Amino acid sequence: MKWIYYLLRKSSPQKYKPVLLVTGCSSGIGLALAKLLWKTQYRVVITARESSLTKIKLKPREDKWIRPLDVNLSEDRKKLVNEIQKKWGGVDILVNNAGISYRAVVEHMNEVEELSQLRTNYLSPMAMIRLVLPGFRERGRGKIINVSSVSGMLAMPTMSSYSASKHALEGASEALWYEMKPLGINVSLIQPGFIRSDSFKNVYYSKQSAEAEGAKEPYSEYYDNMSPFIESFMSRSPITAEKVAKTILKVIRTENPPLRVPVGLEAYVFYYLRRLMPRRLFHPLLFSLLPGARHWGEGYSKARRLKK
Ligand SMILES: NC(=O)c1ccc[n+]([C@@H]2O[C@H](COP(=O)([O-])OP(=O)(O)OC[C@H]3O[C@@H](n4cnc5c(N)ncnc54)[C@H](OP(=O)(O)O)[C@@H]3O)[C@@H](O)[C@H]2O)c1
Repeated sequence: MKWIYYLLRKSSPQKYKPVLLVTGCSSGIGLALAKLLWKTQYRVVITARESSLTKIKLKPREDKWIRPLDVNLSEDRKKLVNEIQKKWGGVDILVNNAGISYRAVVEHMNEVEELSQLRTNYLSPMAMIRLVLPGFRERGRGKIINVSSVSGMLAMPTMSSYSASKHALEGASEALWYEMKPLGINVSLIQPGFIRSDSFKNVYYSKQSAEAEGAKEPYSEYYDNMSPFIESFMSRSPITAEKVAKTILKVIRTENPPLRVPVGLEAYVFYYLRRLMPRRLFHPLLFSLLPGARHWGEGYSKARRLKK
């Protein structure tokens, strides 16, 4: 019967004042969260790549640090976690927020670009987690908050590598949830849909996708349709970086937050559609909603047989 109690119990507020470490705070969600955390009593370390630190206008204090951290650099990661360990006895809550997003079809990514996407959004967050877990286990408490995405539940054309990185993050976090549960350590995935922000301006293009957009080649129309489609979703979204940051703060303040925390209507709609709709209907439905998709590849493939 314990599991019924577990399902029905309400989450209670966090009972201790944690030491927080947040990655990717130079813009968007990370910066919005940093501003909220600056108003709390917590000991907070916000981080950004050295080259982006000047974008953070917050003033450091005794209990609020701003530090350089490129999540992809092993030396940076170890140095910072050791510094926090020495000064404050270790990290209690890690927010893996830093992320990048490639816009490219599968055929336009090379191995180096795939690795760059996966390293920032999956391999490095896992490396950060491995650095803080020994301290979590010793203290018998701690929280991992990984910023995922709706792209961690479904994939979109021209975003294969980004989707793969968020699916990987989701899978590993789910496994980690089971591994950590007996140890009193929480794992949560924040799943925002499109956010009204300028972050689409930070999108990465692979060498080949940069050449194809706006040109006349087999995949050009994919980009010419998908890029404005994604940007218009983002510019019209009611969800802001501040709203996502508030949700993360709520997770920080909750004793036993759930594994998955969707943010925004799309996140709920896609979650339920994916679960309730048969797959043979789900994928054609999504395809029919993609702008211009029925004409993609026209004139470039003999095998294309879409009825007009
Ligand atoms: N925007 C959306 O619609 C959306 C939707 C769902 C999920 N998300 C997720 O939310 C998270 C934050 O994204 P955002 O929307 O706030 O985008 P953003 O404004 O582009 O912020 C991304 C942050 O990650 C940092 N970063 C990138 N690579 C890094 C590295 N190697 N080391 C350290 N920091 C690095 C960036 O720093 P630099 O300034 O140095 O590049 C920036 O501070 C990401 O994980 C993203 O996948 C975003």
